[in-house]
Amino acid sequence: MSRRIPWVEKYRPRKLSEVVNQEEAKKALLDWINSWEKGKPSKKAVLLAGPPGIGKTTLAYALANERGYEVLELNASDVRTGERIRQVIGSSMKMGSLFGFRGRIILFDEVDGLNVREDRGGLAAIVELIRESTWPIIMTANNPWDPKFRELREEAEVIQLKPLSVDDIVTILRRICNNEGIKCEEDALRLIAEASGGDVRAAINDLQAVAEGKRVLTKDDVAITERAHQYDMFKILDRVFHARRFDEARSVTFLPSFDWENYYPWALDNVPTVYAKSPEALSDALDNLSLSDVIRGRIMKTQGWELMPYMLELATAGIALVRNKPPLARFIRLSFPERIRLLAKTKETRQLRDALINRLRAELHASSSEVSLYYIPLLRLMASSDMFRKKLLDRLTKVLGYSLDSVEKALGIEVDRGAEGSRVEHKSAKRSGQ
Ligand SMILES: Nc1ncnc2c1ncn2[C@@H]1O[C@H](COP(=O)(O)OP(=O)(O)OP(=O)(O)O)[C@@H](O)[C@H]1O
Ligand SMILES: [Mg+2]
Repeated sequence: MSRRIPWVEKYRPRKLSEVVNQEEAKKALLDWINSWEKGKPSKKAVLLAGPPGIGKTTLAYALANERGYEVLELNASDVRTGERIRQVIGSSMKMGSLFGFRGRIILFDEVDGLNVREDRGGLAAIVELIRESTWPIIMTANNPWDPKFRELREEAEVIQLKPLSVDDIVTILRRICNNEGIKCEEDALRLIAEASGGDVRAAINDLQAVAEGKRVLTKDDVAITERAHQYDMFKILDRVFHARRFDEARSVTFLPSFDWENYYPWALDNVPTVYAKSPEALSDALDNLSLSDVIRGRIMKTQGWELMPYMLELATAGIALVRNKPPLARFIRLSFPERIRLLAKTKETRQLRDALINRLRAELHASSSEVSLYYIPLLRLMASSDMFRKKLLDRLTKVLGYSLDSVEKALGIEVDRGAEGSRVEHKSAKRSGQ
């Protein structure tokens, strides 16, 4: 049964020839990989640039697939520390391929997702990786023209993809309708394509939301999507918790606004409060969520998208249909996930700390973990001594170019300047007990 597999995955082109209207990009990409195969790469890396949903990631995979390369994917979270990236690459370069692939292509998807200030070491690591790599590297980015990516642009051949026209998108949608055996009115497809703002992924998702399971799709059907778009995460969770039947809970996953990656922290954080009164309900819901998460991990690892229905059903119906479900108020009080909130709250301190670590790392020739494990505590200790404190802080403010306040934050030293800090702590402690 192929229902519920995301059409964006089901219909993701496997071959370059299936990628619509990116002829120049395809040619540039082929020339580049040919130059690699001749042992004389024109540039070590290419950077596929263009707005969301026009085929950047798709082109990378189609090329690898067509030429028999295995894709090793890296992302921004691998690069939080430059070390991790070196480790991944280091091992992959030494290890021969086990599966008869011709070799590897390293795909760095969405490099512009790197927060350059936060991941400064990361950007340098990528540049180094490009210089040292013995495998072809493909990067993608929505906007590589930001000055902070200059060094990266110089290391790579930038291939700009074309924005797709409404006609191009209609072509892609029509192909899907034919394949699914759905008779789609031209006007309906046009409406979806226009609303997508050039983003094929959005267009295909919208098409699936309105057309899946139908024999005929009319223009009127499409107008309904507008309404569904208005669901946000609060409404989605509310609907899941109140659902009494399997398909009722599962139905949220059909909403175009359903973002399953975001759904997890929301579900995980709210289950314990909503089911606080029933241990059985709580246990069932958490069990199902964790099983769903295991499946999610499997999907990500193996690209086995046919497992997706199970993952989504466990994450939605799995928390709606539980033993001893407590009676729920008509309006449940849902909260914004603590993890996301905390990350936002501590962002500034984390950035300062990372910058400090990075700086010291270079200065001391130590790894980031050594710096944070050994040196930072040492500095903190020194700062607590009257003898060293002033000298140390003076020096650090100068070296880092930060204010005294920021240096103290980065080091995590308590500063006694009135009760302000402790008041903030207090508030968050109370919240978690609600
Ligand atoms: N030119 C195209 N021809 C055919 N299908 C396309 C094309 N562009 C995108 N698609 C479809 O849209 C989906 C999203 O495309 P893709 O993941 O390549 O986007 P992207 O450019 O990498 O976007 P983002 O910047 O958001 O990552 C694909 O699964 C594919 O089905
Ligand atoms: Mg992409």
